[in-house]
Amino acid sequence: MDSAEMMKLLETRRTYRRFDETRPVPDEAVRDMKAALRLSSCSSNRQLLRFVFVRDPEKVKAVFACTRWAAMLPEGRGTPGEGQRPVMFAALLFEEGKIPRWMLDTDAGIALSNLTLAAWTHGIGSCMLGNIDREGISRILKVPEGMTLHTVTAFGYPAHACHIVPPGPDGSLKYYMDEQGDFYVPKREEDEFIFAEEYGAHR
Ligand SMILES: Cc1cc2nc3c(=O)[nH]c(=O)nc-3n(C[C@H](O)[C@H](O)[C@H](O)COP(=O)(O)O)c2cc1C
Repeated sequence: MDSAEMMKLLETRRTYRRFDETRPVPDEAVRDMKAALRLSSCSSNRQLLRFVFVRDPEKVKAVFACTRWAAMLPEGRGTPGEGQRPVMFAALLFEEGKIPRWMLDTDAGIALSNLTLAAWTHGIGSCMLGNIDREGISRILKVPEGMTLHTVTAFGYPAHACHIVPPGPDGSLKYYMDEQGDFYVPKREEDEFIFAEEYGAHR
């Protein structure tokens, strides 16, 4: 893969919220997703994160019922309907108190980035979900005492497009959907948040 292809991968690996529910995630993709998690950088190389992959349709349905989608859109608008729901979830778990929370969240972010990129190389879209019923999902997945559910990530072949757009005229960063259900995700320009040599400076 050359750098242009890598940049394209980063541009298109967006949050997808509707999927083709008739297409399961194939084993080859799951194999690469697991390998990508294994290769993740983490603080002191302690490898404290744990994952549960959920592919059984009944369990996927149960986990889905514990998830909340697209809080920035009017109630329910971003929630996938029948036939467009995810076909797989990956739950991320951790043990409380082993390392400072900022280290753990950094490890989690790196792992989720690796995981969703590996999926996307197979054309599988994803949505990381933090707005979830942790107790409910922990019960379904039989999460043992002492382990905490961090986030779940939903997967499936996307059934909509995603476009990067500039912030709105009022500077709004709220993502939105068009009448076809395609998503538009505003991203700031680089010089708004990346500086040279000194904070706020552009050279
Ligand atoms: C830690 C985290 C938690 C998130 N939780 C949710 C969620 O509960 N529901 C949801 O629909 N999207 C969730 N998202 C997706 C974000 O809304 C999405 O990443 C953001 O709008 C930017 O879109 P992009 O990923 O395409 O850049 C979450 C993303 C992250 C990184």
